[in-house]
Amino acid sequence: MPWPFKWGRGRQTPPTSLDEIRASFERGAQDEEHFPSTIDPRIYHVKLVLEHLGPVHSALDVGAGKGRFARIVREQNPTARVVCFDLALEMLRRVDPGLHTCAGSMTSLPFASGAFDGVYATESLEHAVDIEAAVAEMCRVLAPGGRLVVIDKNAEHWGKLKTPAWEKWFHRQELEKLLGRHCARVESRLISYWEDVEPDGLFLAWLAVK
Ligand SMILES: C[S@@+](CC[C@H](N)C(=O)[O-])C[C@H]1O[C@@H](n2cnc3c(N)ncnc32)[C@H](O)[C@@H]1O
Repeated sequence: MPWPFKWGRGRQTPPTSLDEIRASFERGAQDEEHFPSTIDPRIYHVKLVLEHLGPVHSALDVGAGKGRFARIVREQNPTARVVCFDLALEMLRRVDPGLHTCAGSMTSLPFASGAFDGVYATESLEHAVDIEAAVAEMCRVLAPGGRLVVIDKNAEHWGKLKTPAWEKWFHRQELEKLLGRHCARVESRLISYWEDVEPDGLFLAWLAVK
């Protein structure tokens, strides 16, 4: 099935179908080195997600992979409903059994509007291809006053890592603007893995409140 493809700036790569992207991540799930199932909770990416979401009753991890962030969100919010949403079933098969799972594409989320008070996407929006649709969906399922975090790579550093043909990195203002269509407050900042290490510019976090 052809995927509605939005051309990236200056990119000449051919469109990739959703089935190809899914197949790539189904295979990737076997690769624990590149798609780990756990993360050190001291890593700033994790701390920032927890800090910005604050206490939640319900949270959606968009493009959750094996649910390494969701496990920690759940530990911090033991009574919360935490849902891991991902394209690849092989990723979701590895999610901790205490978490909910749901498969599909983030460009069409199968949840009611306002269903979650926290939504986050870590290194997954960059794979969504139709970025506008994915952002609109993440914001739609966020309750008014709910909090959203996107962590992804900085387009200024494009080329620094090997990337699949469909991957897209973002300029700060580009995603601020998209999120700003749906959220009352949006800010972004450069982040590094460790709080006491100066960011090298590769990772950006966008923090929004609906
Ligand atoms: C690099 S992994 C990141 C996983 C997780 N967020 C983490 O930080 O461990 C990207 C994930 O996004 C998922 N993904 C890619 N395209 C997607 C889509 N359109 N909808 C939902 N998930 C998608 C992949 O299957 C993969 O598990």
